[in-house]
Amino acid sequence: MRKILITGGAGFIGLHLAKHLLKNPENTLVLTDNLQRGRMDAELTAFLETNKDRVKFIQADLTDVDVWEQFDHQDFDQLYHLAAINGTKNFYDQPYPVLYINTLVLIWGIEWAGRQSKKPKVMFTSSNEAYAGGLNAFGQLPIPTPEKVPLVIEDVYNPRWTYAGTKLIGEQFMIWGAKQHKFPAVIVRPHNFYGPRAGYDHVIPEFSERIMNHVDPFVINGADDTRTFCYIEDAVRAMQMIMDHDKTSGEEVHTYHIGDREELTMRELAEKMFDVAGWKPSSMTINPSPAGSVKRRLAEISKIREHIGWEPETDLMRGLKQTYEWYIANPKPEKK
Ligand SMILES: NC(=O)c1ccc[n+]([C@@H]2O[C@H](COP(=O)([O-])OP(=O)(O)OC[C@H]3O[C@@H](n4cnc5c(N)ncnc54)[C@H](O)[C@@H]3O)[C@@H](O)[C@H]2O)c1
Repeated sequence: MRKILITGGAGFIGLHLAKHLLKNPENTLVLTDNLQRGRMDAELTAFLETNKDRVKFIQADLTDVDVWEQFDHQDFDQLYHLAAINGTKNFYDQPYPVLYINTLVLIWGIEWAGRQSKKPKVMFTSSNEAYAGGLNAFGQLPIPTPEKVPLVIEDVYNPRWTYAGTKLIGEQFMIWGAKQHKFPAVIVRPHNFYGPRAGYDHVIPEFSERIMNHVDPFVINGADDTRTFCYIEDAVRAMQMIMDHDKTSGEEVHTYHIGDREELTMRELAEKMFDVAGWKPSSMTINPSPAGSVKRRLAEISKIREHIGWEPETDLMRGLKQTYEWYIANPKPEKK
């Protein structure tokens, strides 16, 4: 049997990853989360109930160094470190907690891994945000963007870059913490994962909500900006394949971009979602891109393909349909 610890296990990626990992009968899981953003909703409750012989959930605030002691010397094979505060609104509303929480939970995770007699392999989920500032700062970034570009904080006085700061310093902590404590580690940079249960703050949940409410005219900000969207089933399969691969078991800490190849404009995304929903607005209002938004974001993913053999497989229309149907069944809760 293999024992796997997932921090941030109640979150979007965490629960999908847990479901994916359970397909391997060898795996037993411990999910831990303080439920600050993740939810003990019906889906997580049912998952824990159905799999209670192989999955344990521990509610804990991982900024508290003492709570990590309960995971000591249980021979975990792997740690997927997902716990973090994300969501753009939080960067503006609580910049210091974003810096403090994201960095501290990572440091305690590294220290925890370092003191185990059987060293687990650790995955740190960074973000494309760690390099996004390079575009404005230097006016260019290669597109598609490979892993090896400078990581840049455009403006330390702008709270928007606090999260990116934690990912930048987090990558350094991971690289040098793993070397210091001699455990295998790997860094991934997710690029726009989407799917059911992804919260309500991203473009696809937001479009879904307006489409199901037949909001007309339909407003699109930055209609010609392009993004790629990586379906969550592909994404968690990539994470598991990276984690289980021999390539990431040695001393070198590799970084991998995970993303899709199909680049589409916001207008094309909206049109595809209209097709999925079988409804079209009679008109669209096109606004300029939000301030600071990048025109194109496209990950170079040849490294993961060559090292690990992963490719995104999910047809965009299938992914959008499954996501839209989930949001119809689970509309945004009313603000109290
Ligand atoms: N979803 C994406 O496309 C994407 C893109 C880039 C990076 N990431 C990174 O991947 C990771 C997972 O992202 P997600 O989309 O699942 O986010 P999420 O917010 O759904 O999950 C993160 C989880 O961490 C938990 N958490 C926060 N602070 C904690 C604390 N002090 N103690 C214990 N748990 C705590 C939250 O409650 C939440 O459930 C994050 O590190 C995020 O920065 C995700």
